[in-house]
Amino acid sequence: MKIDLVQEAKEFITSCYQELNKTQDEINERIHAITKQIQTSGSYEHTPFEIDHGAKMAWRNNNRCIGRLFWDQLHTYDRRHLKTEDEIFEAILEHMEYATNGGRIRPAITIFAPHREHQEIRIWNHQLIRYAGYQLEDGVIGDPASIPFTDQCIELGWEPKYGKFDILPIMIQINNQPPKIFDMPEEAALEVNIRHPEYEWFDDLQLKWHGVPFISDMALEIGGIRYMAAPFNGWYMGTEIGARNLADEGRYNMLPQIASHMGLDTKSSISLWKDKSIVELNIAVLHSFREDGVSIVDHHTAAQQFKKFEEKEAESGRAVTGNWAWLIPPMSPATTHIFHKPYKNEIVKPNYFYQSKLI
Ligand code: ARG
Repeated sequence: MKIDLVQEAKEFITSCYQELNKTQDEINERIHAITKQIQTSGSYEHTPFEIDHGAKMAWRNNNRCIGRLFWDQLHTYDRRHLKTEDEIFEAILEHMEYATNGGRIRPAITIFAPHREHQEIRIWNHQLIRYAGYQLEDGVIGDPASIPFTDQCIELGWEPKYGKFDILPIMIQINNQPPKIFDMPEEAALEVNIRHPEYEWFDDLQLKWHGVPFISDMALEIGGIRYMAAPFNGWYMGTEIGARNLADEGRYNMLPQIASHMGLDTKSSISLWKDKSIVELNIAVLHSFREDGVSIVDHHTAAQQFKKFEEKEAESGRAVTGNWAWLIPPMSPATTHIFHKPYKNEIVKPNYFYQSKLI
């Protein structure tokens, strides 16, 4: 028998059921049933409320996430029964529409059938909405982080457009069959044009970003069961876009252009041209999302919300684990309380995990 799986299941069922105020009898009964199921079939199935609460616990336990105050508001779509790539794609679109909600973003997760012997569903995309990256002879167009996946899409017959912000198709694989790709319908992906509240020249940069981050390549692990296809979303913190996606040298690398529009001396680092331009880029991101009515949080508010999360967890008698290097925002980190205290980076399950790269 799979002792590890039984052990993992026991631990999950006990804490999940206790949190949901179930009785010790219910816990014992459920563990008994699960143990029998594992003995006869090698695995077991979660009930709908178990995966729902398990997904929430996984969010609460994710050490890198500053937005965990809202863990209890995650909406779960239980899609374990879906069999074909087309059905899976339809379910993804339904999730996207619910989550996007015209800009009032709602955190959600869609859970497809878990990993079993001879059963494996994978979504190849890093996120459901991501911009293509093309390596050309004289440089890169688009998002450099997407180059390998974009190549893969082209190989499977996707038509490259060679623009800076081309939304990639969804790639779904079931078992050992070749992956299938599906074009993203235009109305499915909410996007925000980035403009600046004072600098009119900012429009000339022609920047935009997608409104919702939908992580689609992580595995959700609950009670020893691994859900390899379980895309989830929250809303953006401004710095993810303004201080990383559009700013990193290995991504859209926009700081030199912004600095030169601002007339800053980019020859000398003591002019702090990078700092000045990164602030203006982040002001533009927050301003544009706000004006379009698309949910976004600035890093100061997010840190305050995280503080509240820490307090609430203490009240519930749970220890907060965290990965300091990820929790501090990439801009002005020392202006948040997170910078000034240590966090234990212990891994508590359920949780979301990286899984082997497909490309
Ligand atoms: N940092 C990633 C991005 O820029 C998204 C990660 C998840 N972010 C979130 N706010 N839930 O696309």
